[in-house]
Amino acid sequence: MALMSASVPLVEIRQVTKAYRPPGGAPAISVLRAASLTVTAGEAVAIVGPSGSGKSTLLNLIGALDQPDEGEVLLDGTALSTLGEAALARLRRDKIGFVFQSHHLLPHCSVLENVLVPVLAGHSHTDPAIEDRARHLLKRVGLTERMHQLPGRLSGGERQRAAVVRAVIQNPALLLADEPTGALDRAAATEIGSLLADLNGLDGVTLIVVTHSRELAEQLGRVVEMRDGRLVEL
Ligand SMILES: Nc1ncnc2c1ncn2[C@@H]1O[C@H](COP(=O)(O)OP(=O)(O)OP(=O)(O)O)[C@@H](O)[C@H]1O
Ligand SMILES: [Mg+2]
Repeated sequence: MALMSASVPLVEIRQVTKAYRPPGGAPAISVLRAASLTVTAGEAVAIVGPSGSGKSTLLNLIGALDQPDEGEVLLDGTALSTLGEAALARLRRDKIGFVFQSHHLLPHCSVLENVLVPVLAGHSHTDPAIEDRARHLLKRVGLTERMHQLPGRLSGGERQRAAVVRAVIQNPALLLADEPTGALDRAAATEIGSLLADLNGLDGVTLIVVTHSRELAEQLGRVVEMRDGRLVEL
């Protein structure tokens, strides 16, 4: 029996462990040790913790970009371990937006083309409605004037804003953002913070955001800390 979607957490991480095994038989580095987290649809969660504590590792597991050694990651009640590659790719495309720790914009494509990349991945041409959405979102983040420029000509904050727009172009239920304000000055960081808050508050996008910024963490509300491979509610 399928449960009512409302009663199932959007993201559930159950006792997940992950170790990296260096080549050459050196001892494995244990990064996640029984990490657990439950995120309800509509929540905004900040993940904080020292450098190297496993925050990006955790985000990759939630985004189905990597697999845990033990434990389960469930999205909308479905254990990712039960899905094949094609289903995982579909899930990443349809439900999840990812803002990576470095923005990964394509240098030879304009800002507008960059934000349409996830759409083009699924189709041979762009639906005009999606292109309208791209223009609308770029306007919302103040990038209308920059839309036809190459990322190399943008400031760090403008590139991050473009990366956020690209991540939400297909209206994902879940946005995973890894240090979206890293390397930005305070003003640019505040802009990204309010953009994320809007996406959560106005559009209902569930947010899981890794950040070193106390300000951004407070803006999001719920804060969990990665500590010795586990997640601790603050
Ligand atoms: N692909 C990999 N192979 C081997 N070790 C890795 C790999 N990815 C991460 N690690 C190691 O796992 C640990 C956790 O890395 P992770 O990138 O998750 O940390 P983080 O909390 O995101 O750090 P930061 O705040 O610096 O981004 C680190 O010690 C890192 O060196
Ligand atoms: Mg990281």
